[in-house]
Amino acid sequence: MMEFIEQEISDRILSIRIKRPDKRNALTLAMYQELAAILKQAGEDVAVRVVVISGSESSFCSGNDINDFLQAGRDANAVRPARDFLHQIAAFKKPIVAAVNGVAVGIGTTLLLHCDLVYAADNARFQLPFINLGLVPEGGSSLLLPAMLGHQKAAELLLLGDSFDAEYALSLGLVNAVLESEDLESHARKQAMVLAAKPPAAMVATKKLLKTHQGKPVTQVLDEEIDIFAQRLQSPEAIEAFSAFQQRRPADFSSFE
Ligand code: COA
Repeated sequence: MMEFIEQEISDRILSIRIKRPDKRNALTLAMYQELAAILKQAGEDVAVRVVVISGSESSFCSGNDINDFLQAGRDANAVRPARDFLHQIAAFKKPIVAAVNGVAVGIGTTLLLHCDLVYAADNARFQLPFINLGLVPEGGSSLLLPAMLGHQKAAELLLLGDSFDAEYALSLGLVNAVLESEDLESHARKQAMVLAAKPPAAMVATKKLLKTHQGKPVTQVLDEEIDIFAQRLQSPEAIEAFSAFQQRRPADFSSFE
């Protein structure tokens, strides 16, 4: 098992915990690889009927590791682990429950669009900051968010890139319920137990039906997005944004045309 990703199977529920708290659970290339491999295996494992994804302490996931982004700008293949993970989660046939506490930024929010039940603690804060980083939406969010929220709300989240709280996420329909922090994981677990007790083949067939009518396949959009995303990683705008994060200063886009 990898240092920053924990997994455990009990009661036919696979619990995946992202555990890199000192970096707010930012995902490295190795973490994406691990997550993709875990999901691939879980999809085939009859001992797993439901997956629960959670974070640690005050963070669900602060998105892609920004230091890796700087590396990725120099190597287009570096987005492959994220792409593999996104394909695995987007095509995962069994139900996924997410328990979100603290920050959920970037892919920490877009991965939730591929979960089936999303529970947030009252301290959860979501953000899709791609625009602020000179990047574009990923994870199928350019397809899924307008479909879920309508164009204007999706534009608000993706063009302004501000963070928002759990109650707002609930009002948008991005989460199923908001719970007190101490009740979050037990509630997610309880709901996972309910799902795990349902007839498994009917569950898989129902989830498949729910996802069949989305129009353009989400996996196609994922690839289109990530190709543009990889180009944007090399852009002077993105490099300015990542450098500003590392230097703990505001990014300055005033000189860009
Ligand atoms: N990549 C790499 N390191 C990250 C990170 C990320 N995405 N998010 C947080 N960290 C690191 C910080 O650099 C800091 O490391 P240090 O202690 O070695 O200096 C540590 O995690 C704590 O971060 P800090 O910013 O002090 O915590 P905070 O609670 O004040 O803020 C966030 C948390 C998530 C709001 C803030 O860290 C943030 O905005 N991170 C960037 C998120 C982002 O843009 N992700 C990419 C999306 S595409």
